[in-house]
Amino acid sequence: MSKFIIQGGKKLSGEIQVRGAKNAALKIIPAAILSKEAITINNLPNIEDVDKALELIKDLGGEVIRDKNSVKIVMGKINKTQLNPELANKFRASIMFVGPLLARFGEVNFPHPGGCVIGAGGRSIDLFLEGFKCLGAEIKEENNSYKIKAKKLVGCNYFFTTISVTGTEAILMTSVLAEGTTVLKNCAVEPEIKVLADYLNEQGAKITGAGTSTIIIEGVKSIGAGNFEIIPDRIETGSFAIMAAATNSELLISKCNPDHIEVLLSIFNKIGVKFERGKDYLKIFSREGNQLLKSHGIKTHEYPGFPTDLQSPYTVLMTQAAGSSLIHETIYDRRLLYVDMLLQMGADVIMCDPHRVVINGPTRLYGKKLTSPDLRAGIALIIAALIAEGKTEIDNIYQIDRGYENIDERLRLLGADIKRIGTLFNN
Ligand code: EPU
Repeated sequence: MSKFIIQGGKKLSGEIQVRGAKNAALKIIPAAILSKEAITINNLPNIEDVDKALELIKDLGGEVIRDKNSVKIVMGKINKTQLNPELANKFRASIMFVGPLLARFGEVNFPHPGGCVIGAGGRSIDLFLEGFKCLGAEIKEENNSYKIKAKKLVGCNYFFTTISVTGTEAILMTSVLAEGTTVLKNCAVEPEIKVLADYLNEQGAKITGAGTSTIIIEGVKSIGAGNFEIIPDRIETGSFAIMAAATNSELLISKCNPDHIEVLLSIFNKIGVKFERGKDYLKIFSREGNQLLKSHGIKTHEYPGFPTDLQSPYTVLMTQAAGSSLIHETIYDRRLLYVDMLLQMGADVIMCDPHRVVINGPTRLYGKKLTSPDLRAGIALIIAALIAEGKTEIDNIYQIDRGYENIDERLRLLGADIKRIGTLFNN
């Protein structure tokens, strides 16, 4: 199994460019199914999850012409509506293929999406199924597999009882080709949703309100395809900003959109992280005389609140701040398990319940042998290792490659002492 070996204690410096957003790529790739025409996706991150999504497209009969950071997809000659169980089982975002297949072909068979450890008992897809039903689809479930059929999809009113990013995107993509008007309420408002809707509108869809909690879709008969530029990954941006603050380094984070991490920057102002922001860059400054940061608690929240995907890196940062901070994870049940590893590294952590921990800082961290439980905890462990005394080994780094392109090479360019043992996933 591949692993990273990190020698801590080095300051970082220089520039790091942010890649395209994973969670935009994983929606625009299946959106290609909605049209027979060719779509070109630019600023595509070169990560494991994108590879899997493109494999799924090929398996359905789609044409995929890939360059390093762009891809052209043509879904003219699709030859099946069954998602390959082996592929679909590997990643949660395979659920994003279901709505577009249903919308274009009136049927789809798929296994319960796998590949995720952060939700208790496997993450539910109830909101997706309810939304498809509301649009007129019939659903049969057997042995953890689903068969969905619809003679005709008809617009409906659907209220999301839990705010869901992929749920909003899935029902949005499905209703684009339904007959009549669909009104979706209590929608997620993440920036990736707005850019998806903007692209579909450019191709002939009639969507209003994306980026607000109510989205209205007037169904159309068909839509075209064109060019899509993936927006910068706001979670990468935030992860690198936290990495700079935690290692007390001066870093220029370029090709990003600081507006998308407003909440983190507001907290930086309160805790003493100095930065400068422009339209497409963020510069984090180091603190003179190793001045301590102030502690500050967070409660994860849907956008524009504090993103659950930055909770683990931020928790590591709080181990270096003076005072106590309450970290409250409200979105997922199993996203605080990694704090056990921070404890092993020497952090002072009080586990209150599965959703809340208190961090008392500042504490020294010490290098240990660790396993990355999931993608975001993985980058948090890298940050912890960079500030720790001594050597840290992190295995199961496949989880990190899922969402951060070539992370070791990019960090080495900033001066980090990080080695990969084993190969990069796609080499
Ligand atoms: N939920 C349900 N039923 C559903 C769908 C979701 O109960 O049918 C619950 C979830 O269990 C969770 C809550 O709703 O408790 C919110 O989850 P949401 O559906 O918003 O998450 P998601 O859409 O599955 C996306 C990102 C996640 C990110 C969350 C929250 C993608 C592919 N994934 O997931 O990204 O954490 O939104 O912002 O867009 C990551 O990148 O590491 C990651 C996990």
